[in-house]
Amino acid sequence: MSQAPRGVLIVDLGTQYTQLIARRLREAGTWCEITIPERALETARRMDLGGVILSGGPNSVYDEGSPRPPRELLDLGVPVLGICYGMQWMCQELGGKVVASDSREYGRTSIRILESEGLFDGIGGHTVVWMSHGDSVVAVPDGFNTYASSDNCEFAAVADPARKLWGVQYHPEVTHSVRGREMIDNFLVKVCALPGDWKPDSIVDREVAKVQEIVGETGEVVLGLSGGVDSSVAALIIHKAIGARQHCIFVDNGLLRKGEREAVEAEFREHLGMDLTTVDAADRFLSKLAGVTDPERKRKIIGHEFVEVFREEAKRFQNSKFLGQGTLYPDVIESVAAHGGSTAVIKSHHNVGGLPEDLDMALVEPLRELFKDEVRAIGRFMGLDERIVGRQPFPGPGLAVRIVGEVTPERVRLLQDADHIVTTEIEAAGEHRSLWQYFAVLLPVKSVGVMGDARTYESACALRVVESTDGMTADWGHLSHELLARISNRIINEVRGINRVVLDISSKPPATIEWE
Ligand code: XMP
Repeated sequence: MSQAPRGVLIVDLGTQYTQLIARRLREAGTWCEITIPERALETARRMDLGGVILSGGPNSVYDEGSPRPPRELLDLGVPVLGICYGMQWMCQELGGKVVASDSREYGRTSIRILESEGLFDGIGGHTVVWMSHGDSVVAVPDGFNTYASSDNCEFAAVADPARKLWGVQYHPEVTHSVRGREMIDNFLVKVCALPGDWKPDSIVDREVAKVQEIVGETGEVVLGLSGGVDSSVAALIIHKAIGARQHCIFVDNGLLRKGEREAVEAEFREHLGMDLTTVDAADRFLSKLAGVTDPERKRKIIGHEFVEVFREEAKRFQNSKFLGQGTLYPDVIESVAAHGGSTAVIKSHHNVGGLPEDLDMALVEPLRELFKDEVRAIGRFMGLDERIVGRQPFPGPGLAVRIVGEVTPERVRLLQDADHIVTTEIEAAGEHRSLWQYFAVLLPVKSVGVMGDARTYESACALRVVESTDGMTADWGHLSHELLARISNRIINEVRGINRVVLDISSKPPATIEWE
């Protein structure tokens, strides 16, 4: 099997920024993996290791149970960069001294660069960085020099250049650190001597080989295709590996957007030549949803029904012992819990990936090491239709969570027609490029209107348009009045059954993006 590229091991010491560090590295063309301290050495030995980054974390090195990477990491002969807690741990481990400060240093801070080399190659004078720490290093280990200081922090950046051990008290990975990206690039290129030529698509051949190895000469794979980018790209890679021995199942639950089923069939069956079965399960889902208005019950019913349909369908492929899934890296990274306890369930998300273990099939997950934007890049590289690669997120329970109140075939049709106008108009105006999602929501409200000389009493729909980078937080999107007017006019004129359009101007939090 082809070897992973030379890269950097990121050891998670509890910070919320670990994935951000990984994103920065990969954007800079460097392969990297994230692991927890307990697995750091075995992962380091398995990798073609070019360097190590020790992340920050909320603990003090003096806390009982604070994360402790194995000391051997510092002796592997590869460069190490300790960030915040990572630097404090490294300095203490090598004979320096760390003390708790009277106050926390938090926020934007100006540091003075003392030596423009290594991490600071090409960077001199003062620059603003993001600090967030309580403890401070007050004495550095033997062999270490100071590379940057701030008013409150003598050792803002230190290094032992002979051993290539670097430590920064601030967070170069966040955008508030104005030249943080250059510092990370310098660590990778100048200190670790990494080539910086890794690209997401370079992983395709390796993943194809892996699939072939797992599935063997005759094995068959069943994959639930949702039409979203993750399952689509997973299907592409598996198809490249084993061709017709992959069987894709697309469940039409009757809650899809207008034209969606046809688009998926055209792309995967006709264009890409895959073995695709569409299961027409609309009646089944809609009859189970009849009379249900509670959002969580809707979600549970749809999730349960999906598993049942998939299970029945998968039985037809008796020789398939493998289940293909578009699981992404953020779902599999083991992380150090910064705080114990469970978080409240806001909405029970359901995805095609949410299949139960009792299906008793071995998993094939070719995207396990990738972030979402890398999956998109691979999709483009492999020639996937831009409408699928660039598709806006669409929830697993489909239009059911955009129909507030009861889901009936008639209300699904109303929403499909209104939503189709929203998406076509926004895309025609080119506005979709800066938006995270844009769709219509059908409200359980009827109101009086007048059309021609006749009184109408029909449904209202809302426009939901948001900007976001990850769906975790969102701002409502500002469309021009002309575009809003066009959308509203078209919906009211063309969709018989809707006589009023309203605009949702709520941000997340406190609202959520979907209405249910
Ligand atoms: P909320 O409504 O929680 O949505 O602000 C955040 C993002 O998640 C999407 N979403 C889902 N995605 N299955 C999914 O795969 C789901 O059940 C689901 N519910 C919400 C939503 O579209 C938004 O992008």
